Amino acid sequence: MHKPWNEQVVLITGATSGIGYEAAITIASLRTAGVGPRVVIVGRSPEKTARCLEEVRQASGSERVESLLCDFESLASIRALAAAFRHRYERLDILLNNAGTIYASRRLTRDGFEATFAVNHLGYFLLTNLLLDLVQASAPARIVSVASAGHHRGTMDLADLHFERGYSTTAAYCRSKLANVLFTRELARRTAGSGVTVTCLHPGTVSTGIWDHAPRWAGPILWLPRKLLLSQKQGASTLVHAATDPSVEGVTGVYFERKAPVRPSALALDDGLAARLWAASEAMTGLG
Ligand SMILES: NC(=O)c1ccc[n+]([C@@H]2O[C@H](COP(=O)([O-])OP(=O)(O)OC[C@H]3O[C@@H](n4cnc5c(N)ncnc54)[C@H](OP(=O)(O)O)[C@@H]3O)[C@@H](O)[C@H]2O)c1
Repeated sequence: MHKPWNEQVVLITGATSGIGYEAAITIASLRTAGVGPRVVIVGRSPEKTARCLEEVRQASGSERVESLLCDFESLASIRALAAAFRHRYERLDILLNNAGTIYASRRLTRDGFEATFAVNHLGYFLLTNLLLDLVQASAPARIVSVASAGHHRGTMDLADLHFERGYSTTAAYCRSKLANVLFTRELARRTAGSGVTVTCLHPGTVSTGIWDHAPRWAGPILWLPRKLLLSQKQGASTLVHAATDPSVEGVTGVYFERKAPVRPSALALDDGLAARLWAASEAMTGLG
């Protein structure tokens, strides 16, 4: 059953750039009876977020776009985001976990976590869990996380999640993206039958700013001519499809590439590993 767009609330993280920014415009452009969904874009810089808010409103022609701030490097900031969201909104129909990054060298967050894992995985994990009851109360509802085909190269060492040994930019990024797929699998299992679907996806190799943070050797797409990369709009289309398309209503626990369900890596299908990663993530974020 399709809910009217004018009744839905959508939250998009990492909406101040790249794929999330384009997805915000497309979703804010949807209409029922001439009125679009309430779209909440999340950014970390107040100035950039305010600028993007105006741009998304203009490009979509909708005034029903609002913004909140969060630095996903900080558990306290993620908790503050969830609290601010709950204060303003009574429902959450579509949660898009998209904020992601790459670091040129190993660094720890103030909470003491390896920063790639903290932003790319713990950010999705904690925000989703803090808002899960709201999503469930809004069912049918969707949770979509932007992972990456890079997860195929990811390994998971639960005894060394902060990469005290063997750190590289690529290893940390690919591990965080494997964590996105494992998180999706475990959350889909936990929410089965609740009317909430949980999916993740690879957006394609997209011309965004994400690779600018990586050392040159670590960004394979830097070696490709830009014209071979997908545009940000094309990259956003797989995310928009998973978030809004009626054809994937009820589809859960799935990893999409090019808008089609695809088998992820063998590690990403390991239910025991998904459960252990969930428990470790609960302990790290103070949940559970
Ligand atoms: N581009 C690709 O080829 C590709 C391929 C596979 C998967 N992905 C995934 O797609 C997602 C979006 O990336 P993108 O390519 O669109 O990159 P992008 O243009 O760099 O956008 C990343 C977004 O995440 C935000 N962000 C980064 N670190 C943050 C933090 N600590 N706190 C709050 N927000 C933070 C950025 O905020 P600022 O605007 O403030 O920087 C920006 O809005 C990521 O999850 C990425 O892993 C991308």
